[in-house]
Amino acid sequence: MSILEITNLSRNFDGVLAVDDVSLTVDEGETVSVIGPNGAGKTTLFNLLTGLDRPTQGNMRFDGHSLTGLRADQMADYGIARTFQHGRVFGNMSVLDNVLIGAHTRRRAARPSVRALGLVSELFMGIVQPPAVRAEEGALRQEVEEILSLFGDRLLPRLQQPAYSLSYANRRRVEMARALALKPRLLLLDEPTAGMNPTETGEMLEFIYMLKERGLTLLLIEHKLELVMRLSDRVMVMDNGQKIAEGVPQVVRNDPRVIEAYLGHKQARPTPIPAGNEPDHDIAPSRPMIDPTVAAL
Ligand SMILES: Nc1ncnc2c1ncn2[C@@H]1O[C@H](COP(=O)(O)OP(=O)(O)O)[C@@H](O)[C@H]1O
Ligand SMILES: [Mg+2]
Repeated sequence: MSILEITNLSRNFDGVLAVDDVSLTVDEGETVSVIGPNGAGKTTLFNLLTGLDRPTQGNMRFDGHSLTGLRADQMADYGIARTFQHGRVFGNMSVLDNVLIGAHTRRRAARPSVRALGLVSELFMGIVQPPAVRAEEGALRQEVEEILSLFGDRLLPRLQQPAYSLSYANRRRVEMARALALKPRLLLLDEPTAGMNPTETGEMLEFIYMLKERGLTLLLIEHKLELVMRLSDRVMVMDNGQKIAEGVPQVVRNDPRVIEAYLGHKQARPTPIPAGNEPDHDIAPSRPMIDPTVAAL
């Protein structure tokens, strides 16, 4: 059963067809990778699928609902979550609060009556904190800690630290934890191992594999082909906005058009890998990384 159906989707940026007539279906529980050279249109496709950008043509359906024209928060309500190519977390907020945002987003979606009360009532609830709300906060916090524990001791000991003080790899883990706190039905990962060293990359691969084993539907943009080969049930190859190949990893890998566009003369630039593990606290506060999915709430 396909959970996501993309039909003849296009995005034209003043004459640049970043996404050009792309169709794709993704089945429930499937892991589909989107690969292709830099500028192929992969991130633009993700932006369309998460409501950060609107298609100029075509349709998207998720679990029977049309996504076309919906805002980012409405797409999140359907259970579509993502991470960003360059990582986006709230630098001045703690690890805990960053991930709580994801959980709160889901709670709002699950309780339309609270939404109907409006912003003022929500703020009031936030200040007064009736017992039911406190209990819910406790439950949410426990949920967040459970999600963070999936990353071993990478994040749990840093629960109260501001995100800017974390290593790059940990900030990316926080972002993924926040996406998971939304309890997504579809998770889009845009180059989740970009900028990670081989150890961190291996850990992330195992992590994504665990999500896949748990049955989560995944769309993955990734340049590291070993990861793509290991994780994907299917691979879609894009070049110049178009889908140029699609199939099981082994077949796609040997497709002459793929070798030409992706592995041949236009090979994507290898992602720079920092030497060794970055220590935490070693990173200057980053520019504010605002997740528009969250900011739109
Ligand atoms: N907001 C935008 N305005 C204009 N052009 C854009 C915008 N976003 C992406 N593009 C262009 O669309 C094409 C695809 O970009 P992108 O989706 O980021 O590719 P990829 O993620 O595959 O590297 C590129 O030519 C890029 O310059
Ligand atoms: Mg990209």
